[in-house]
Amino acid sequence: MKYIIAPSILSADFGNLQRDIEMINQSEADWFHVDVMDGVFVPNISFGFPVLAAVKRSATKPLDVHLMIVEPDKYIQEFAKGGADRITVHYEACTHLHRTIQLIKASGCKAGVALNPHTPVNLLQDVIADLDLVLIMSVNPGFGGQQFIHNTYKKIQDLKVLIRGVNEDLIIEVDGGVGLQNIATLASAGANAFVAGNAIFASGNPAETISKMKSLTTGRINI
Ligand code: DX5
Ligand code: ZN
Repeated sequence: MKYIIAPSILSADFGNLQRDIEMINQSEADWFHVDVMDGVFVPNISFGFPVLAAVKRSATKPLDVHLMIVEPDKYIQEFAKGGADRITVHYEACTHLHRTIQLIKASGCKAGVALNPHTPVNLLQDVIADLDLVLIMSVNPGFGGQQFIHNTYKKIQDLKVLIRGVNEDLIIEVDGGVGLQNIATLASAGANAFVAGNAIFASGNPAETISKMKSLTTGRINI
């Protein structure tokens, strides 16, 4: 099983973005997680295309773009052109989710859907075969550094059941409050991609924390 570590640049130092991108390039991380917030879907505004372009210029790993925005269809093409490899939209923000998923794929990107903590996994039943990734939010989206919600474990198990025999290669990504204290348990529950912001960037040695997270997922170390 391949486990993906995706540091969230939302927690990077924007005054030293180049330095933090370089740290991720040199680390054992697999993807850059890019959190785009519009101040409407979530009560916070993060950044948009110029920052995505800056990340793309220096990043040597795929960009995992998480759109916490309303009306994502309007911008999918531009995110794809801006260098996104994966685009994840929120179930709660898409009236015509099937169309949005097809738009993402037509733009040349892998398609993901994110679920807020209150949204049950089974609502994805009729699109699950079309997806490359499901992002289970383990906090209410909008901010880094929040406390992990425990019901996430049950949702991972529900998603494992939903994909059985239908889309077993689907990536199960968890986002929010993930760190050294819970990543191994999340991996045993069935998650295989892990977003982490605060746990990485607020640690004394971010590259070493990434390395520890990676080792914990593969069971090579215990803490
Ligand atoms: C939350 C974002 C997350 C966030 C995670 O709305 O989607 O990606 O950056 O941050 P931590 O790991 O600090 O909870
Ligand atoms: Zn995110």
